[in-house]
Amino acid sequence: MTITRIVTRNGTRAIANDWYPGTLPESVSIDPSAYVGSSQSFVRYRSERPVGALIAQGASLCDATSLDVGPDGLVRIGEYALVTAARIVCDAEVEIGPYALVSWDVVLMDTYRGRAEAPRPVRLGRNSWVGFGACILPGVTVGEGAIVAARSVVAADVPAYVVVAGNPARIVRSLGGHAGERF
Ligand SMILES: CC(C)(COP(=O)(O)OP(=O)(O)OC[C@H]1O[C@@H](n2cnc3c(N)ncnc32)[C@H](O)[C@@H]1OP(=O)(O)O)[C@@H](O)C(=O)NCCC(=O)NCCS
Repeated sequence: MTITRIVTRNGTRAIANDWYPGTLPESVSIDPSAYVGSSQSFVRYRSERPVGALIAQGASLCDATSLDVGPDGLVRIGEYALVTAARIVCDAEVEIGPYALVSWDVVLMDTYRGRAEAPRPVRLGRNSWVGFGACILPGVTVGEGAIVAARSVVAADVPAYVVVAGNPARIVRSLGGHAGERF
């Protein structure tokens, strides 16, 4: 995969050969070895934090993944994580751990916009895998190495190294790994 080439256009950062005519917000930090397919990912990005999105070494943000980030939001995408065509709705913090895989049409949301309750961070553990169309609701932590089956709705924390499926998602299988295990 080609590494993103960032250029400066009229004093603002942009992605070379971007199909979308947008720019990269200043508060988005992209490691030189990360891949970001298009500035279109940031059309809904409104974070006012000094750093509102961190895309770490070797991470990939593909296929118009949308970062819908409010003024106090922070999205962290860990080393070598791969996020493709997902929607991230963040008013506090959404963290995608190293080596995690987030498939298409996944929604990660730390907030129910329009409701009085405060946002609650969402975290995906190291080397976790979220199947297509799944939804991870506010406050949920998905454990290291866990798998969320396609189109599941995850309303409660998921332990490490299990497969969860359904709505609401329940454990359907144990993967028998253990925390700290590496590739
Ligand atoms: C998560 C997944 C890998 C599980 O595969 P698996 O470990 O082989 O699990 P099984 O097929 O044996 O299913 C185990 C149980 O969970 C259920 N289940 C599996 N996936 C489910 C889903 N998406 N929704 C609801 N139930 C599901 C099965 O019906 C089965 O139930 P049972 O024990 O009552 O018969 C697979 O179901 C899946 O969702 N794949 C999506 C892959 C994907 O998103 N790819 C995109 C590219 S990243």
